[in-house]
Amino acid sequence: MKRIKVRAPATSANVGPGYDIFALALEDPFDEIELLVSDEGGIDIDIENDTQGIPRTVADNTAGLAVSELFRRKGIHKGVRIRIIKRMCSGGGLGTTGASAAGAVSGLNTLLELGLTHNEMIDIARMGEVASGGSPHADNVAAAIMGGFILVKSYFPVDVLKLELPDIPVVLAAITKSQRTTRGFITYEIGQEKLKEQMARCSRVIHAIHSGDPTEFGKAVSVDYIHEPVRGSAIPGYWEIKKKILDTGAYGCTISGGGSSVIAFCPENCRETVAELMNREFSSNPHFIRVYQTRISNSGIRVLEME
Ligand code: HSE
Repeated sequence: MKRIKVRAPATSANVGPGYDIFALALEDPFDEIELLVSDEGGIDIDIENDTQGIPRTVADNTAGLAVSELFRRKGIHKGVRIRIIKRMCSGGGLGTTGASAAGAVSGLNTLLELGLTHNEMIDIARMGEVASGGSPHADNVAAAIMGGFILVKSYFPVDVLKLELPDIPVVLAAITKSQRTTRGFITYEIGQEKLKEQMARCSRVIHAIHSGDPTEFGKAVSVDYIHEPVRGSAIPGYWEIKKKILDTGAYGCTISGGGSSVIAFCPENCRETVAELMNREFSSNPHFIRVYQTRISNSGIRVLEME
């Protein structure tokens, strides 16, 4: 029997205009994934602190699906007990489903010395996301595996680039969404003008990272015409609260991943103000969980224990 326990970080996908192609890793919160591997048996899933009724069946669980995809592709015949220790809320756009899939694939890669590249792990782990949102998007799993800011350079084949980010404080209001996924309401039919602006904004995000400029980064991530209009309209008071957050001096504000959490990037001296504002403004939202004061992290999945 071999055992590994990893820490898989929360990730915030899309980062404004980069729907399905941008994501970044956060220092907190995180989940833990423990894998016990034996020579025989199937894939078993056990979840601790599950408040959302996450499926335990292999085909309906992101980690289970990702591990079965890994075994299928690599011709591995082993038994695995996957123990997911939830430390972040599900259904809030914090990438927890991706964290489970990425943690399981990355943990097995280390434990079984499979020698997979980052792109291979991402391509396998993203298949697990089908169990959650019905789509194999690579953004969350890539940021969980690699840390930092990730940019999907290509989906055919999957090719992901990691960019190191400046140390920017993050204030995040964790809010769960009422529907399982809102992806079906998102349209690419946004018209020529907005499409041009969307591409310009994506370029601006990358330029801001290359020049290490948090102000420029914040401005770039605060505009999106693809997912934010859909997800913003599902968060009561979102547009007014976003404006108030930006008025405090925050660099930028947008919706985290598939929503409905709201993420703000801010200078150190206004993070308390932003946290208080979020607590006040979102407290009447029945889906509001809590505010996290965290930071962008350039580290991805970390091994906690191995034997
Ligand atoms: N890019 C994905 C989406 C991330 O926006 O649906 C889900 O967390």
